[in-house]
Amino acid sequence: MENKKIVVGNMKMNLTASEIDNYIKEIDKYDYNEQVVFCPSYIYLPSFVGKGYRCGAQNIASYELGAYTGEVSARQVSSMKIDYTIIGHSERRNYFNETDEIIRTKITLALKENLKVILCIGETLEQRDALKTYEVLKRQLTSALKGLDKFQGIIIAYEPIWAIGTGKTPTNQDIEDTISFIKKIINDICGQELKVLYGGSVNDENITKLNTIKNVDGYLVGGACTSAERFNKIIEVVVNQ
Ligand code: PGA
Repeated sequence: MENKKIVVGNMKMNLTASEIDNYIKEIDKYDYNEQVVFCPSYIYLPSFVGKGYRCGAQNIASYELGAYTGEVSARQVSSMKIDYTIIGHSERRNYFNETDEIIRTKITLALKENLKVILCIGETLEQRDALKTYEVLKRQLTSALKGLDKFQGIIIAYEPIWAIGTGKTPTNQDIEDTISFIKKIINDICGQELKVLYGGSVNDENITKLNTIKNVDGYLVGGACTSAERFNKIIEVVVNQ
């Protein structure tokens, strides 16, 4: 697993119960290993876990337990045999006002429960145009990671916000350069190597090209993972390379 790429499907707030049933029937035709992680809405997680699929929550609460109506804690997620949680997705940062501080709290809670963390970072188009990409990524990484007492189990997902759901992606060279920068910053902060995924409009048509990027450790897929057929095509390219 150490050197193997992983493919994470973030299904966001998509698919109904019957669509999930069909989805699982489709993926049951294949034999996925631990390189593939499904992140459906909370309510569908048990259906995936029950079939032995690796799963992740899309979010966790920033509180440990108690009277927080509508929230789901890291401990609850972990107690359901769910291995991963996404933290700091740009949709959470933007629509739910998650600050760097909240994200850091969530990482600490997740690691305490031995959840693997997929920490999303990325720049807006405005920041990119102002040549602030590296500065933004460094700030996001530093505030999330600096001073943590363990780093094992943290995976970074580099997702340029302007590439999410837009059909646009940076060039391969651009992604490679940015991932090199992220890996250097991670090493400066924690003296370790962490996996770095790319996310943002990854689909079954561009994955063959994206998968030639040398330093990428996998992909975080949104829209294209809501179709089992399209997601399977992506997985086949990455896992069978
Ligand atoms: P997308 O989403 O693949 O639809 O661009 C990626 C993500 O938000 O993680």
